[in-house]
Amino acid sequence: MQRRQVSRWASSVGKAATAPDGRGAKACCPSSVERLARYREPWNESCAATTPTCAVHCVTRVRRYRRSGYPDVTMAEGNDGNLLQHAAELAAVMLLLDRAATRIRLVCTHAMRPFEDLRLAPGDPGTERVQSLIRRGSLLRRGLADRRAQPPIVQAFAEMEVSAERYPNSAELVRWAAQKAGKGVTGVLMERAPEKWKDLERAWGNTEVTLWRGCWRTHLPTLSVPSDPWLLTMDPMTFSTAKRRDSADLDAADLDRLAVTLAPWFACDVSVGLLAIFCYGLQPRQQEPFRREIERLRTRLGTEVHMDALQVGAWGPNLHVGALFSREQSLLRSVRSTFSAPSLEGLLKA
Ligand SMILES: C[S@@+](CC[C@H](N)C(=O)[O-])C[C@H]1O[C@@H](n2cnc3c(N)ncnc32)[C@H](O)[C@@H]1O
Repeated sequence: MQRRQVSRWASSVGKAATAPDGRGAKACCPSSVERLARYREPWNESCAATTPTCAVHCVTRVRRYRRSGYPDVTMAEGNDGNLLQHAAELAAVMLLLDRAATRIRLVCTHAMRPFEDLRLAPGDPGTERVQSLIRRGSLLRRGLADRRAQPPIVQAFAEMEVSAERYPNSAELVRWAAQKAGKGVTGVLMERAPEKWKDLERAWGNTEVTLWRGCWRTHLPTLSVPSDPWLLTMDPMTFSTAKRRDSADLDAADLDRLAVTLAPWFACDVSVGLLAIFCYGLQPRQQEPFRREIERLRTRLGTEVHMDALQVGAWGPNLHVGALFSREQSLLRSVRSTFSAPSLEGLLKA
């Protein structure tokens, strides 16, 4: 089989989002303060800025906060990174479900809560896109939109009653897709934040999906090769070449770990699968190292493994990226074909 070149990286799935221009900036801090106060997060107390750069300010602060010893901010990013990740995961899992006799195997290394608040930054085009898709879901739920004109993610949002206060993690989206397909889900959710365990256990308690508490790095080597079609998806904060300050980030040593555990998965002829790695807000100086490392990972996963990289602009020159690996190039092509229009919202085809 011909190897996929990493130059696919260059084909962006959307236009780079510009930094927030200040629209709605005044509402940004007060609403963030109110929203985040519920999570007892001290950083927001000093976030009194109501300047045009307020939304950027909040993004920067929350990232610093995460890295300063309080990494488990309990909110999903409400931005294009979420849309890229969840639309790609949904597309992949629907294809894998087509191949499954009765069930698929799911592994999420960074599970999050089943549903979380979105951290919305008014004025950020990514936030507006997420909100627009949530609104479309709500219209669909109330019978005010044509179902056939909606992409799967909007259909999922509609049926799962998604809102900015109730945004699903990947596992819930996979469960929704499996139920639609009349198939089951087995697998493992890994999560290191104790305050999220109870919700995850409640959500998956009587199922064949188990929660493994703690850091994914400890659990990874104990995973066995799946006998059903599989999706292993990773949602670290970002990729970094710096000495790791936060174990929520991914680095080159982590990709080596993945190669060791997952090479046998890709070598197995019994089950087709897909590995997805999403990194949010990748800084320019980290982009080339990330490309290099994921290409190196592809080689280490096996000569028949293909890779495709999706990307969408984050704030400023940063990128949200997703690297997808599979032995089946057609699977990667089908996932990419979900993203084919010039804007991220437009590109989520019905
Ligand atoms: C890393 S965050 C990423 C969030 C996502 N990119 C977003 O902002 O929408 C996702 C989840 O991973 C968990 N997490 C972070 N580091 C982890 C680790 N080393 N092992 C397992 N879970 C981890 C966090 O507690 C959080 O619930």
